[in-house]
Amino acid sequence: MRYFDSKIDNDDFSLRWSNRTDLFGMLNIEQKSFENPWTENTFLQCLRQTNFVAKVAYRVKKPEKVFGFMIYELRKEKINLINFVVDPNFRRKGMGSMMISQLLNKLSKDRKKEINFNIRETNLEGQLFLKARGFNATRDISRGYYADTGEDAYHMVYKIGDRDISNRISNYF
Ligand SMILES: CC(C)(COP(=O)(O)OP(=O)(O)OC[C@H]1O[C@@H](n2cnc3c(N)ncnc32)[C@H](O)[C@@H]1OP(=O)(O)O)[C@@H](O)C(=O)NCCC(=O)NCCS
Repeated sequence: MRYFDSKIDNDDFSLRWSNRTDLFGMLNIEQKSFENPWTENTFLQCLRQTNFVAKVAYRVKKPEKVFGFMIYELRKEKINLINFVVDPNFRRKGMGSMMISQLLNKLSKDRKKEINFNIRETNLEGQLFLKARGFNATRDISRGYYADTGEDAYHMVYKIGDRDISNRISNYF
């Protein structure tokens, strides 16, 4: 699959479902990325849920190494993005956009219509990234949502619109 706005050579990087052997790589990226990273146990609890999906970004020539990952929950009418990270050494190369593009392709006017994500109030980089990918902050702020720091969670949402439908149709021409 081609991603219009990606700076990555898409014949080189791709996305696949995660498997048990990816856990170490995911943990490693998580620990390099966050002051309060998820533990192995948190990953395992998430991955055991039947409606949770974990996808990893990998290099086609070396598929076992993980460069980024996303974990999301599939609900009937929406997708809740739970965790989303790119290896710090491979950021600003379009890998995050590649993952989000794949998620946006799961939306449709008559089924899943939106993607939700709770983000730390201090995570400006993440907010800017999501904004650049078409997400908007809502007025819905969860005060003191993060028990570790007491930070608020901003609620960002992507809602499918006519633009998405016409973009997808234009893919076929
Ligand atoms: C947020 C994150 C996933 C972005 O991944 P990425 O692969 O670097 O993103 P992309 O290269 O696709 O960036 C696309 C656009 O998003 C915006 N963006 C991304 N990172 C940004 C930053 N640090 N500051 C400002 N804008 C940023 C830019 O508009 C960028 O386009 P540009 O590079 O042409 O300016 C990555 O920075 C990350 O893993 N952060 C830590 C984890 C995290 O905060 N996760 C939750 C938030 S989604």
